[in-house]
Amino acid sequence: MGKLQNRVAIVTGAGQGIGKAIALALAKEGAKVVVSDITDLIFDVAKEIEALGSEALPIKCDVTNPNDVNKMVKTTLEKFNRIDILVNNAGIYPFKPFIEMSEGEWDKVLNVNLKGVFNCTKAVVPKMVEQRYGKIINISSIAGAVVGFPQLAHYSASKAGIIGFTRALALELAPYGINVNAVAPGPIETPGTKILGKETLESFIKTIPLGRMGKPEDVANLVVFLASDDSSFITGQYIVCDGGYTLP
Ligand SMILES: NC(=O)c1ccc[n+]([C@@H]2O[C@H](COP(=O)([O-])OP(=O)(O)OC[C@H]3O[C@@H](n4cnc5c(N)ncnc54)[C@H](O)[C@@H]3O)[C@@H](O)[C@H]2O)c1
Repeated sequence: MGKLQNRVAIVTGAGQGIGKAIALALAKEGAKVVVSDITDLIFDVAKEIEALGSEALPIKCDVTNPNDVNKMVKTTLEKFNRIDILVNNAGIYPFKPFIEMSEGEWDKVLNVNLKGVFNCTKAVVPKMVEQRYGKIINISSIAGAVVGFPQLAHYSASKAGIIGFTRALALELAPYGINVNAVAPGPIETPGTKILGKETLESFIKTIPLGRMGKPEDVANLVVFLASDDSSFITGQYIVCDGGYTLP
């Protein structure tokens, strides 16, 4: 029996990278997983989950679009009749010097990374309140949560916003048996970070005490812990997963 047997989880941005690893890790522990993203990659991830012997429901959903999000939640409830776990993972990180950053570029990042978290959480919480059970896990970042990162002012603002949101919501939802926590990953090797190029990634590795980039599975293992009852006395926290990168 897995730790998450019969639990129902929604993972946003689950088509690739960290979100995909989270979806697979939750499924390995027995959860039924809604694999949601704007790309068709969700259908491949769903097949991988089914190959593990778990149930998957791929749903196309743009987290910035409340209609998409509400439809995703409705479809999930029609199929599984409950939602135990929400992982707000969808996020973008387009590097841009602040001096060159347009208002539109700022809005886009805040919209996906922070408003998207609002949209999905807002849609899922009524069911969790009714169930008197839920685990909300928000993917923040060391950028914003712990350290500054040049060319990521918009991103850092969104990820710091997630930490404040996590704390406030944890207090409001604790009486309903809902835990709300965040994860702050350091540099993780994903399709999104591969675009940064070999040189940048190698320069990161030199500054990571454990001597390697993080793997999506490193974050996924932490999310499984926060999604399970092993962490039932933890709420309102962010946990750093960065190979020691932000240690003083
Ligand atoms: N990779 C890292 O080093 C790192 C570090 C810290 C935090 N994070 C965070 O982890 C999360 C995943 O990062 P990743 O590196 O796996 O990214 P990635 O770019 O490899 O994958 C992100 C996924 O999110 C999806 N997505 C983008 N916009 C969306 C939208 N509007 N609605 C739904 N889905 C959307 C993309 O289609 C993609 O499949 C992000 O929130 C990111 O900020 C990543």
